[in-house]
Formats: sequence, structure tokens, C-alpha cells
Amino acid sequence: MDIGIDLGTANVMITMGNRGIVLNEPSMIAFNTKLNEVIAVGTEAYKMAGKTPDHITVVQPLCDGVISDHKMTEYMITAFIEKVTGKQLLMPNIVMCVPSSVTDVESRAVIEAAKIAGAKKVYLIEEPIAALLGTGIDISTPLGNMVVDIGGGTTDIAVVSMNGIVAKSSIKVAGNKFDKAIVKYISNRYRVLIGEKTAEMAKISAANIFDPDGSRNMIIKGRHLIRGLPEQIQVSDYDIYEAIIELINEIIFAIKSVFEKAPPELVGDIYNNGIYLTGGGALIYGLDKLIAKEIGVHCHIAEDPISCVANGTRLAFKNIDKLLDGFENVSLYKN
Ligand SMILES: Nc1ncnc2c1ncn2[C@@H]1O[C@H](COP(=O)(O)OP(=O)(O)OP(=O)(O)O)[C@@H](O)[C@H]1O
Ligand SMILES: [Mg+2]
Repeated sequence: MDIGIDLGTANVMITMGNRGIVLNEPSMIAFNTKLNEVIAVGTEAYKMAGKTPDHITVVQPLCDGVISDHKMTEYMITAFIEKVTGKQLLMPNIVMCVPSSVTDVESRAVIEAAKIAGAKKVYLIEEPIAALLGTGIDISTPLGNMVVDIGGGTTDIAVVSMNGIVAKSSIKVAGNKFDKAIVKYISNRYRVLIGEKTAEMAKISAANIFDPDGSRNMIIKGRHLIRGLPEQIQVSDYDIYEAIIELINEIIFAIKSVFEKAPPELVGDIYNNGIYLTGGGALIYGLDKLIAKEIGVHCHIAEDPISCVANGTRLAFKNIDKLLDGFENVSLYKN
């Protein structure tokens, strides 16, 4: 049995053999600090976020693309694997993708967790490679392709040719930072404090970062900072634009820097093929048009961008024999 895992900062997705995606849950864990035990993981933990009493903490253990909490990450990954395997003794091979900013020591901890959960072999694959595989394009040819994967914690930009990364950049500007920027902007402009979940909803429903015109908007609720009482306000695409455009520009700047590092032949290929956008951030309304305008290369939003990396880990098994010698930046860990 082959298992593919996209261990994202925001979401964990697991694929199993040819069954496709069998698990898709937020990367969260709820922990009781009095009893020292895990209460919930994933969706259940997400529902508790921001609503717990003191002795229960809900953490996003991979927040901002770093493993802020080793133990919690291990608990979470073990719980997820057990959830999909049902504790059967399958001894699966696992292809796993961890955030690019994760250090070797941290990945080691995750690999150990996967082994504790029963893995026979664990392959670690880089996110841009998995993301491009997941879009369905053939990355084995000597043709340059560029992917911009905007996740929760990091944006990974890479130029790939012949199964390997030729130029790349990874910045810690992605979904979570957008949400925080929206919280800050709303509190400055409207004097209303909203939660990050609410900010995320506003980002999803009311963003337009290409040509905001006030037509996309949403009612959100929070606490008035001066009166201290509940308040509801309407936010529009202008607000979201103001809140996040600087961060978006950092991403565009990083894309330019990767072009500067890439060999000119490959730059020519990308001019023809376009840029592939993956990760949840690819869905920010107007982003494809903005990047196309600023960079001068057309952009494809991948089909189902949030699942690209998970699908890539699944498709990697088709090339499992090639995985180590064919794919650059893949590592194998055996028991
Ligand atoms: N329609 C949408 N519009 C804008 N943002 C969205 C949309 N849908 C999801 N997102 C955002 O995408 C992010 C999650 O994307 P994704 O699942 O690709 O991240 P991840 O893989 O867990 O993170 P990372 O790759 O950084 O480890 C969240 O910040 C979420 O708010
Ligand atoms: Mg991701």
C-alpha cells in the first residue's frame, strides 16, 4: 500500500494507492495541558480553535512553515496515518512532502513519526516538485516549467527541468500572513478586532487584488476595540486589497528574483508555457491576472490547486524506481 502525504502548514492531505485523497484536514491539534493528552486532531481541533478554556490549547504545529512544536507534529502525523490505515499492519511506503523551510532535524522528527505509525520506507519530496507533478505536466523533459505554490506558511517558487529544481526561492509570505494582515487592517481602519478565521473567510470571499471595484464584499463580525462590544461591519475588495497588496508584491518580487537566477533557455520555455499557480493562495481572486501583468508571462491556476501537492505525492509512486535517481532532492529513509 502506497501512501502520499502533503504535510502542509495549513492542511494535511493523504492519498492512498489509487483511491486518491482519503484525508484532508487542517494541520491542527488540540491538547489538554493538565492531563497531558491529545484531545483532537484535524477538523475537530480546528472547530475548537479560539474557543478553548485555559487548560486546552489548539496549536498549528507547523505554523509559518517551521515546526514550532516537535511533539505535537509527531502526534498529529501519527494520528492522521492511523486514521487512514485504521491501525492495520500495512507497512506502507510513504512519499511525503514537508514545508520547504523545515530543517533536516525537523524533517527527521516527522519521518520518525511516520515510521512509528508503521511506514516501511519514507521518501521525502520537495514541494515544488510534488506541486508540478500534481498539475499533470511532464517534468522529466528538458523543458523549463515554473511553479508558484502559495500555501498557508510559505510560498515556494521554482523552475524545474528534467525532474530537478534549477532555480528556486521560498519566502514565508503566504495565506497565514494574509489573514494576519487583514486582522490588522480591519482593526486600524474600523476599530474592530476580528479573529483569524474570520479574516480568512473575508480573504476567500471578498478579495480582488487585480481590479477591486467594491463589488465583492462581505459582512464580518468582531469586537469593537473602544466600546468592547460585538460589532458587524461590511468589508469590500478595496479593504482586502489594501490589507494584503504589499505582501502580494513581495511574492511578485520573489518570482522576479527566480527569473533572474534561471538560465535563459529555461526562461524562454516558461515564457511559452506560462507559470503554474498551485496551493490555496492560487485561488486569491485576481492573483493570476496581477502576476501576468507584472511579470509579462501568462499564468495557469492549476486545476484543484489545493490538492496539487497531494496528487503529486501520489503520482510520484508511478515513478518510484526513478524517484531517487531521477528526481533531484528526494531522500529515502528506511527502517
Ligand atoms: N479560495 C481561496 N482564496 C484565497 N485563499 C485561499 C482559498 N482557499 C484556500 N486559501 C488559503 O490557502 C491556504 C492553504 O493552502 P494550502 O492548503 O495549499 O497550504 P499548505 O500546503 O497547508 O501550506 P504550506 O504549503 O505553506 O505548508 C490558507 O491560507 C487558505 O486560507
Ligand atoms: Mg503546501
